Amino acid sequence: MRKVYLGMSGLVLLAVLAQFYFAAFGAFSIPRDHASFEMHSVNGVILIPLASLLTTAVAAAARVPGRLVGLAAAPFGLVVVQILIFVLVHLVTEMTMEQSTPGAQWILGFHALNGLAIVSVAVLGVVRARRFVRTAPPRTGKTLARSDRAQEAPAGSEPALSEVTA
Ligand code: HEM
Repeated sequence: MRKVYLGMSGLVLLAVLAQFYFAAFGAFSIPRDHASFEMHSVNGVILIPLASLLTTAVAAAARVPGRLVGLAAAPFGLVVVQILIFVLVHLVTEMTMEQSTPGAQWILGFHALNGLAIVSVAVLGVVRARRFVRTAPPRTGKTLARSDRAQEAPAGSEPALSEVTA
């Protein structure tokens, strides 16, 4: 289950990187309209949130520390922020599908910054999942309780030798 968790974290990162690719794909299409961003929309609205939620469920099932479960859910939460940015624009500006306004553009610039935040949590998710899978002792019989303590150790700390070899 831990390896599945690591693999799923990698898939989330791949989907997030693809999201940037699809943004450029749409931006360079001529003429450019909403259909140019179709893959960006599908990946952003469906695939990334789904991958993040599944990874969160697998992380919880693998009994990884709570902070890693939270990290797996972070891309989902930040995609919700992406959508809220659009909602805010429609609430506070006069922007339409045919005509943007300077105010809307200032707000929509945060879409790119929040995108960078999503990349950051996705990269961190893979790095932390890989470290966890490599260092946490196996959850078997007698070691179960001890491995729980080891998994709750501060980030970056190695499990005690006795816990790994017990
Ligand atoms: C992980 C990063 C990103 C995520 C999760 C994301 C997600 C989304 C979502 C959910 C939408 C709304 C789609 C819809 O309503 O159908 C959207 C639209 C859009 N995004 Fe992103 N986005 C990301 C990064 C970027 C970046 C880096 C750019 C460009 C700098 C960008 C440019 C756009 C544009 C132009 C639209 C509007 C497309 C249209 O006209 O329908 N996005 N994005």
